[in-house]
Amino acid sequence: MADSSVEIVEGCRLPVLRKNQENEDEWPLAEILSVKETIGRKLYYVHYIDFNKRLDEWVTPDRLDLKKLQFPKKEAKTPTKNGLSGSRPSSPERDVRKSLELNVQSQPSAPSRGKTLPTPKRKTESVPLATQVSPATPVPSLPGPAEASQASVYPAGRETFTPKSTREEHELTSITNGTTRRLIPSQPGRKRKANCGGTDEIIKVFQYNNSPRCATGCLPPGEDSQDSSDGIPSAPRMTGSLVSDRSHDDIVTRMKNIDCIELGRHRLKPWYFSPYPQELTTLPILYLCEFCLKYVKSLKCLQRHLVRMVTSTDLTNSGKVLHLEDSVHQFVVYLLFFQTKCNLRHPPGNEIYRKGTISFFEIDGRKNKSYSQNLCLLAKCFLDHKTLYYDTDPFLFYVMTEYDPKGFHIVGYFSKEKESTEDYNVACILTLPPYQRRGYGKLLIEFSYELSKVEGKTGTPEKPLSDLGLLSYRSYWSQTILEILMDLKSENGERPQITINEISEITSVKKEDVISTLQYLNLINYYKGQYILTLSEDIVEGHERAMQKRHLRIDPKCLHFTPKDWSKRGKW
Ligand code: ACO
Ligand code: ZN
Repeated sequence: MADSSVEIVEGCRLPVLRKNQENEDEWPLAEILSVKETIGRKLYYVHYIDFNKRLDEWVTPDRLDLKKLQFPKKEAKTPTKNGLSGSRPSSPERDVRKSLELNVQSQPSAPSRGKTLPTPKRKTESVPLATQVSPATPVPSLPGPAEASQASVYPAGRETFTPKSTREEHELTSITNGTTRRLIPSQPGRKRKANCGGTDEIIKVFQYNNSPRCATGCLPPGEDSQDSSDGIPSAPRMTGSLVSDRSHDDIVTRMKNIDCIELGRHRLKPWYFSPYPQELTTLPILYLCEFCLKYVKSLKCLQRHLVRMVTSTDLTNSGKVLHLEDSVHQFVVYLLFFQTKCNLRHPPGNEIYRKGTISFFEIDGRKNKSYSQNLCLLAKCFLDHKTLYYDTDPFLFYVMTEYDPKGFHIVGYFSKEKESTEDYNVACILTLPPYQRRGYGKLLIEFSYELSKVEGKTGTPEKPLSDLGLLSYRSYWSQTILEILMDLKSENGERPQITINEISEITSVKKEDVISTLQYLNLINYYKGQYILTLSEDIVEGHERAMQKRHLRIDPKCLHFTPKDWSKRGKW
């Protein structure tokens, strides 16, 4: 469709043909980010407006609808460090670019660590909430004690404080699935102001149609109920990055720079820019050692790298000592290879968990700097919204592997600050694409909370979450909280009771996340002056079905972890 008489330049917008998830043609509006010519043919790098940046791609001219071509408006042009212009779709943050500059100009082996821009912390009060009690202390998301003491029935709507994550969730819900949970405005006169200790919090209104039932989920047949599957989006958000500050984008970091990575038996197609040395970005395939994550430019280099070092055991042949010449020869080989060859068959650090074929290795970003930096470089290929820094010292990396006779193969990881003033128990989390959507993400998340349990703390992932991160956390939180609620036993025929603090203590999920999950699931109801968590049949059945499918679980008995007190000086 491209007309050779029209020059399509960076910043132009026009519909571009792509296949949607159902493999049907669609023509979303896209922006041209770059133009190149290969073998006499032009190629255009496009960002689909309102789609996640991982879908950006090089397209041929026949996929462009020139009839609707919009040229860049002068004032809309955005200066970049290259003097090029363009829109500002999702892009890595400023520190990524910094690290790129440093990388390209100086040390290719000094990349980055995963950490986001700081997000303002929300203050919330402590919250005793019962499945069937009058709260004594104000609840951020719920009416205060004075209101609660009223015996009125408020079965329909009320205003609630919505933590940031919940706002993102609702945004996500409404974008991904028009039929998902609806945020129905409360009915006039039935609103109740939230006692959320802050006037700048967004107020959302929920309507709850169910009549209160017991927390273990006995729902009388035929009653109106909230469909559990209703509110859970089945697709990730396709909009751009969660970070709104686009003032530091540049044309380089906005585009994927690595075409393909070979890692063990997998070939990975990166989703985003990663600051690998520039000379490696022209390669059709970048080869990584799957054990130490070192990057090399060819298969030959990788094979040389992977040649096993001769060890003392190799110097004996089935118990027999080799001839002197042989052993001297092998010793020389050993010395020659010592500096450059890789003898790892697992990540460095300590194996702190093993069950079946799944292991977790704890890696100190200070002690294993090169590995940690290589891990961050690889992770950046799939993480767009995280700021990267060079200094891996303040982080621990928990790498999950799957074992086979060839070694411990990396499946995913999360990083964690040694000390977090914001209760973050995860900085960045990643399942490598070949392993995604098989439950490993939730396994990583579960592991992060098991660590928090051993530390005796509650934790939360660092914000902002990516679209896929949000889906995974929301699913984990929902299942974890529902597991607790459904295990509650009633005493003396009374409805079982639990406070939000208790849920938080048992699960190590930070209170704000417990509240946002209860709100997301639309479980909290206010009835006769009491807060009641109502589990509908649909919720219970949906949960049971989901748990049957959740085969991968952490077994706390297999965790051997002693937390360190990183606040003591000199520890890291
Ligand atoms: N489309 C729809 N749903 C998805 C998708 C997808 N592409 N990917 C995951 N989900 C849902 C799953 O359906 C599942 O929910 P369910 O069990 O209720 O159905 C839930 O998310 C978790 O699925 P898992 O298989 O356990 O997770 P996975 O191994 O795919 O890993 C992760 C999830 C880590 C977020 C992965 O997608 C990833 O690495 N993404 C790229 C990096 C990223 O965005 N990381 C999070 C950033 S936020 C932070 O770092 C704190
Ligand atoms: Zn190696």
